[in-house]
Amino acid sequence: MEPVILRTARLELSRPVETDVEAIFEACQDAGIQRYTTVPSPYTRQHAEAFVEKVAADWASAAHLTWAMRHEAGLAGMIGLYRLDGKGTGELGYWVTPASRGRGLLTEAAHAVLDWGFAADGLDLDRIEWRAVVGNTASARIGRALGFRYEGLVRRGLVSTHGRDDGWIAGLLRDDDRTPQPWPVLDR
Ligand SMILES: CC(C)(COP(=O)(O)OP(=O)(O)OC[C@H]1O[C@@H](n2cnc3c(N)ncnc32)[C@H](O)[C@@H]1OP(=O)(O)O)[C@@H](O)C(=O)NCCC(=O)NCCS
Repeated sequence: MEPVILRTARLELSRPVETDVEAIFEACQDAGIQRYTTVPSPYTRQHAEAFVEKVAADWASAAHLTWAMRHEAGLAGMIGLYRLDGKGTGELGYWVTPASRGRGLLTEAAHAVLDWGFAADGLDLDRIEWRAVVGNTASARIGRALGFRYEGLVRRGLVSTHGRDDGWIAGLLRDDDRTPQPWPVLDR
C-alpha cells in the first residue's frame, strides 16, 4: 500500500522517515514509552534507524501502518494501526513525546486514524482493538475518550522486552457511536 497522509486541525500524519531518526531516538528514552510499548529497552539510535526501515516495509505489505504525528514544534509522536489481518480487524497503538503530552494531540490524531481505518475508502475495517499494560491509566483514559468499550483482562497477554504483562483490552466497532463509555477499571 502507498503511504497515506492524514491531516487534522493541528497535525499532519505521515510515514516516519530517515530525518525523524534523531527525534525518535530521543523520545524513546522516555521511561513511559519503554515501559508501556514494545520498543526495545535500552533504545539505541540503530533501533530508530531500523524502525524507520521496518515501517516502510510494513506500509508496503499493509501489515502495520504507522504515522509520525507532525506538529509545528516537530515530531509529536507516533500512531498506527497494527496487526491488520486483511479480514477487517486492526489494533490502535501510539506514543507521544514527553514535551507534547497533555494537549490533546494524541486524541486528535487518533480520531483521524480511526475515521480513516473504518472508512469505506480507507481500510474499511469492522473492528479496531486497543490493548494496554494493566495500570496504564493515561492510555486507558484515551481509549475511553475515543469511545472504545472495555472488554476485559488478558492475563499475561502482552509481550514486550520486559516479559509478559497482564493487559486491558477494549474494542471499537465501525458502527459504535464514539461517546465515552464506562470503563470499570477507571470508574471504580
Ligand atoms: C498515553 C499517552 C499517549 C498520552 O498522551 P497525551 O499527550 O497525554 O494525550 P492527550 O493530550 O491526547 O490526552 C490526554 C489528556 O489531555 C486532555 N486534553 C488536553 N487538551 C486537550 C484537547 N485540546 N483536546 C482533547 N483533549 C485534551 C485529554 O482530555 C486527556 O485528559 P484525561 O487524561 O484527563 O482524560 C502518553 O502519555 C504516552 O506516550 N505514554 C507512554 C506510551 C504509552 O503508554 N503508549 C500507549 C500504550 S497502550
